[in-house]
Formats: sequence, C-alpha cells, structure tokens
Amino acid sequence: MKPCMFAAVLSLLLALPTHAATIAMEDQSQLQPSAAHSATHQFQPPEESELPDNAYGKLVRQGYALFVDTKRLAPQFVGNGLNCSNCHLDQGRLANSAPLWGAYPMYPAYRKKNDKVNTFAERLQGCFQFSMNGGTPPAADSPQITALSVYAYWLASKAPLGVELPGRGYPDVAQPAKGYNLGQGAEVYQGQCAVCQAPRGRGRRSVTATSCRRYGVRTPTIGAPACTESILQRLSSSTICHWARAAA
Ligand code: HEC
Repeated sequence: MKPCMFAAVLSLLLALPTHAATIAMEDQSQLQPSAAHSATHQFQPPEESELPDNAYGKLVRQGYALFVDTKRLAPQFVGNGLNCSNCHLDQGRLANSAPLWGAYPMYPAYRKKNDKVNTFAERLQGCFQFSMNGGTPPAADSPQITALSVYAYWLASKAPLGVELPGRGYPDVAQPAKGYNLGQGAEVYQGQCAVCQAPRGRGRRSVTATSCRRYGVRTPTIGAPACTESILQRLSSSTICHWARAAA
C-alpha cells in the first residue's frame, strides 16, 4: 500500500478510540494503486429503484444495511467503530474507493497476504478480520457474508466477469510538486473536517443531523461516519491525502 493511502485512512480513523485499524489497513492492500479514473466511461451500478420486490431484493437490502451500518448490526464482528462504508465510500458505489462492483467480478483471486486463492467470501472475511478489527470473522456461509455477497453481486450487475474495471481499488496520489503545505492542510481540516473530527482531531462521538446536512449527507442518521463519508466525497482524495501526510 502506498503511504498516502495509509495516511488518508489514518485521517479517517483519528476520531476513533482504537488505532489497531491502521495496521489492518496495510494488511488489506492487494491491488496495485493506479491513477484515478475520470467519471466518464465508468461502470454504473444499478439504482435501488431497480431492485425487484422479492426474496433476492430483500437480501440485497439486508446486505446494503450491513454494509453501511456494520457496527450496529453486527457488533460481534466489529472491534472498532467502523462501518464498511467508511472506507468503501458511497455505499460501496464510489469509483476509486474500492467499490464493490469493481471487486465482485474479480474473485476467486490469488492473494499474497494469505498465499492462496481467495473466494469472494474469504475476501469479505479479510476485511472483517483486519479492517473491522473483528477477531474471528463471520463464517463463509453465515447470513452476514451471504447478504454482503448478494449486495456486491447486485452492484456488479452487468459487469464483465474477470475484467478489471476502471475505478477498482484505491488510486495512487502523486506527490505535490512543491511539497506538503501544513498551513493549507490545517485550513482544509478546520473548514472541512473539524465538524466531525473535532478541532484537534480527537473526534466526536455524535454529530448532529444538521451539521452533517451542511455537507449534503444522504443518511444523516448514521452520524459521524456518514458525515466523514460525505466530506471525503467532496474533497478530492489528493487534498485529503496531502493533509493527512502533512499531519502524520
Ligand atoms: C478501514 C478501512 C476499511 C474498512 C472499514 C473495510 N475495508 Fe474493505 N478494503 C479496504 C482496503 C484498504 C482494501 C484493499 C484495496 C486494495 O487492495 O487496493 C479493501 C478491500 C476490500 C475488498 C476487495 C476489493 C477488490 O477490489 O478486490 C472487498 C470486497 C472489501 N474490502 C469489502 C469490505 C467489507 C464488506 C467491509 C465491511 C465488513 C470492509 N471491506 C471494510 C479497507 C477497508
């Protein structure tokens, strides 16, 4: 994993009581970071309105709920305060943020980390175990892994199988030509991040719907994580990375 990605995620975690996930993040690294892809020619996952009203649609919804509200719905598998959607932004839809539609069609795949071919279920278990700091992950045939797999399968509807789509994984961020600017970083932080992360990065446990709405959050009820997600979508990843590197 590139240090920038590490630093970017570290910034996400400043609000949390545990630091274990910073190590975990490195463990998750698998793909070669690539240049960010533009929004044009990007794969479009289906919209919720297209979901059928049947058992399959219901399971997709369960997977979605688990993805965005993991800590509350599966507390036995989450050792930190995170939801999957804190790192896989916009409900696992956002390109260049390890979107689920980019991942699903690429498994089974060999992973150096555990030196074997991983099924998609095993890949999900990896994120539970390391990114969620969750200890023993849910079993491959558990309701949690099943629902999350079905959600990912649905997001990847009509994606080609085994073809790496632009926007998969996280992009590499180039070094700024003039080096890092601490003053500018502090300014961005106070203006964009402090509302959720507190002025000195200690974090806040609760963020009101009103303050989140300021950033155009879709689901303010989730509180701080949703707020963080929204902010990250608004700032370019390079801005966040540069701030995080400067702060580290
Ligand atoms: C702390 C951040 C973080 C959290 C939380 C997190 N992940 Fe991940 N996830 C990552 C990183 C980093 C990668 C590695 C991407 C790479 O290899 O470039 C990854 C990879 C993945 C992949 C494989 C992506 C691909 O294209 O091969 C899947 C699937 C995935 N995560 C699902 C989940 C699920 C489901 C959850 C919640 C249970 C979750 N993640 C929580 C950071 C996180």
